[in-house]
Amino acid sequence: MTTYHFPKGFLWGTATASYQVEGNNTNSQWWKWEEDGHANGKSGLACDWWGGRWKEDLDRAAEAGQNAHRLSVEWSRIQPASDRWDEDALEKYRAMLRGMKERGITPMVTLHHFSNPLWVEETGAWETADVIPHFEKFVRKTVEALKEYCTLWVTINEPNVYALSGYANGAFPPGVNDIKRAVQVEANMLRAHAIAYRAIHEIQPEARAGYALHYRPMVARSWSPLDKMMRNVRYAGINMAFPSGISTGILKSPVGNVSIPEAKGTQDYLGINYYSQDTVSFNLANPKELFTHSGFPADADFSENKFIANIPEGFFDTLKWAVRTYPDLPIIVSENGVEDSTDKIRPRYLAQHIHQMWRGVNFNWPIKGYFHWSLVDNFEWERGWTQRFGLWALDTETQKRTKRPSADLYAAICHENGLSSEMVAKYCPEVMEKLFPA
Ligand code: BGC
Repeated sequence: MTTYHFPKGFLWGTATASYQVEGNNTNSQWWKWEEDGHANGKSGLACDWWGGRWKEDLDRAAEAGQNAHRLSVEWSRIQPASDRWDEDALEKYRAMLRGMKERGITPMVTLHHFSNPLWVEETGAWETADVIPHFEKFVRKTVEALKEYCTLWVTINEPNVYALSGYANGAFPPGVNDIKRAVQVEANMLRAHAIAYRAIHEIQPEARAGYALHYRPMVARSWSPLDKMMRNVRYAGINMAFPSGISTGILKSPVGNVSIPEAKGTQDYLGINYYSQDTVSFNLANPKELFTHSGFPADADFSENKFIANIPEGFFDTLKWAVRTYPDLPIIVSENGVEDSTDKIRPRYLAQHIHQMWRGVNFNWPIKGYFHWSLVDNFEWERGWTQRFGLWALDTETQKRTKRPSADLYAAICHENGLSSEMVAKYCPEVMEKLFPA
C-alpha cells in the first residue's frame, strides 16, 4: 500500500454558509429573491441549522475525522435593522463555535457569504460606499462576540462571484446586467475588506484574516487570437480584480482601474475556492456573456448537471498560481467539491483533487488546510435544490440525512491525514492507474 501523506496539523474540514444551511433567513435579500420567484426553488428550512441540527451534523463531521469546519454568520440575523443588534443570534453562534471546540473542530468563520440584510439591500447594497461603515460596525460587533472561539476569519466569500452574478449575468439578486456596476460593487467590497481586516486585527491581534477567492483557471478553446484575447479579458475580469487590489492597491478590471491603496497587503493567508477550469472562446453573438459564460471540453468528466467538469490538473495550476503570486503566504483551500446526488463522480473527484493538492504540498507549498464543499446537501442559490454537493444527502421533506460513499472516503483521508492506494482501490478504482501507477 502506498500513501500520500500530509503535514502534521493539516486542517481537514467541510465548508458551509449560513444562508444555505440555517433555514428561515427571512430577513435576507435572498429570501425576498426566492419569494419573488427568481430562484429555482426555495431555501425554506434548508438543513435546519438554526433549529439546532448543526449539532447532529457536526457530530457527523467529528466522527468522520474532520478537525476543522468553515461556516458563515448571517449579517441579517445579527443586525436585523441598522439600529438594532440581536444578541440572541450572536449567542447562538457562540454556542455553535463552542460546540465545534467541544468536538475538536477548529472553526473558520466567514463574515459575508452572498447574503445581505434587507435594510442593506434597500440602501443600494454594495453599489454604494455607504455599506462600508455599516459592514465595519457589523464586523466589529461580531468579532468581539466570537473572538473567544475563533482566530481564523474570512471577511468576504467570493467577491468576484457576488459582483458578477448579481450585476453582470444577473443570476443573483438584484439581477442586473452591467459590468461597470459589477466593478463598482467589487471595489466597495475590497474597501470594506481592507477596513474589516484592520478591525479584526485591532480586536484580536493574533487573528489570521483573509478572504475566499473563487479562482477559475482558463484556457482558450483554440489558437485563434480572438479566443486567446477573450480568455485573457475574462481571466483578468474574473480572477484578478481582487488579488490585484490586494497586491498593488489598484483594483484592475477590463473596464477600468480603481485605486484602493488601503487594500494593499490586507491578507494573512489566501483562501482559494476551486471547482473547475473553463475553456473560453470568443462569442460575438452574445456580448452579455463576456464575463459570465464559458464552456468545458465536450469530452470532459462532467458532474450530474454538467455544472462542473472534473479537471484536477486545474486545481494544481490554481495552487501554483497562488504560490507564485504570493510567495510565503499560507494557502487554505476554502472550498472544493462537486454536485452529484448519486455519488457517481464525487469519489474520484475527491481523490484526484486531494492528489493534486498533495503534489503541491510535496513542493513545500504552504498549503495548510482543505475544506470540502459541503458537509450536507444545502440550498444552492439560483440553482435551488437541483444540485447536491453534500457528503451526506438531505431529504428536505423529512430532514433525514443519508451518508454517501464519499463521506467514508473523506473520513478515511481525514483519519489517515493522507490518501492511500487502498482507499482509491475501494472507492474509485477507475482512477487507480492515474493516481498510483503500478
Ligand atoms: C459558493 C458556495 C456554493 C458553491 C457551489 C461557491 O461558489 O461559495 O456558496 O454553494 O460555490 O455552487
